[in-house]
Amino acid sequence: MTHVLVTGGAGFIGSHLTEALLARGEAVTVVDDQSTGDFRNLAAVDGHPHLTCIEGDIGNRSLVEQVTARVDQVYHLAAAVGVALIARQPKETIQRNIHPTEMLLDALVARWRQGDPVRFFLASTSEVYGKNPKPRFSEEDDLVFGATTCARWSYGASKAIDEFLALACHREYGLPVVIGRFFNVVGPRQSGAYGMVLPRFVNAALANQPLIVHDDGSQVRCFAHVADVLVAVLQLMETPRAIGRVFNIGSDQPIAIGELARQVIAASGSTSTIQLLSYAEAYDRDFEDVRRRVPDLSRLQATIPHRNHYDLQAIIHKLLDHARHSHTAPPP
Ligand SMILES: NC(=O)c1ccc[n+]([C@@H]2O[C@H](COP(=O)([O-])OP(=O)(O)OC[C@H]3O[C@@H](n4cnc5c(N)ncnc54)[C@H](O)[C@@H]3O)[C@@H](O)[C@H]2O)c1
Repeated sequence: MTHVLVTGGAGFIGSHLTEALLARGEAVTVVDDQSTGDFRNLAAVDGHPHLTCIEGDIGNRSLVEQVTARVDQVYHLAAAVGVALIARQPKETIQRNIHPTEMLLDALVARWRQGDPVRFFLASTSEVYGKNPKPRFSEEDDLVFGATTCARWSYGASKAIDEFLALACHREYGLPVVIGRFFNVVGPRQSGAYGMVLPRFVNAALANQPLIVHDDGSQVRCFAHVADVLVAVLQLMETPRAIGRVFNIGSDQPIAIGELARQVIAASGSTSTIQLLSYAEAYDRDFEDVRRRVPDLSRLQATIPHRNHYDLQAIIHKLLDHARHSHTAPPP
């Protein structure tokens, strides 16, 4: 049986990943400090004989040494996530995103020196492209960050350092690493509390409250369902050609945020209106956004036989159904 470590496994993507790994018959250890996640996200697999949950900070060296001692694979998802959180806590973002990655890689290099090549997946982000003006981002494109006085870039820059560290361990030691740059992943259990747009819109629409759209709503994003994203991640981790490489993962179907709000209102039959809010009011005076963020998926599609199953309409309907069900479900 393969033994897998999932850091951040009580979070949105991590909980779905943990379920998928257990369903494949793997033994999973989850480490999560519940800073933005919650072990209740793993309720569906609670008590599973092959699941071990550890509440703790993956920035703690002795915990890292303990949980990496016998694993065969590591999926590193624990991070400070969400634009709102990053704008509020830039120092914690930098520390949470760099320090644990460095320690995990150190521990895996030590295992590699003992003859154990542990495969490592790093959850990176489209934020590493910063404000590159290209209409579609390819993995070899330049990273274009704004000034260090603008805190939001600390998220992308810290994830870029993680990528450099992982690639350095591959180059210097042959450590088998795979890096996935996620573009707006959505699905059940994603919290809207840290600035994630689609859960915010869905909750507001169902409550017939205004949908708050930042700036003029013309900023463009692509939304992929977490199930599609995880199929790609799991396939990449089984593909030798993926090792030592970086992949865009997500949807390449763009939509403006204002239009997304209109589609959520229409699909939900809500009486909500759309309310525009400046970035200065939503975040802070110095906040800068990325106007357009669309991935080029050709490297991913040339490496694994991957096509997304869910389009945006299906995603919106699934999220509405899930939110309606969770709102009406009796408390556990
Ligand atoms: N959701 C997206 O659209 C998206 C986009 C790009 C990248 N990502 C990346 O995917 C990963 C998962 O994101 P998510 O959307 O599931 O967010 P999430 O906040 O639900 O998951 C992160 C999890 O990590 C945990 N965590 C944070 N710091 C920790 C620490 N030091 N020790 C232990 N646990 C810690 C949190 O409690 C949380 O459960 C992150 O690395 C994120 O940067 C997500």
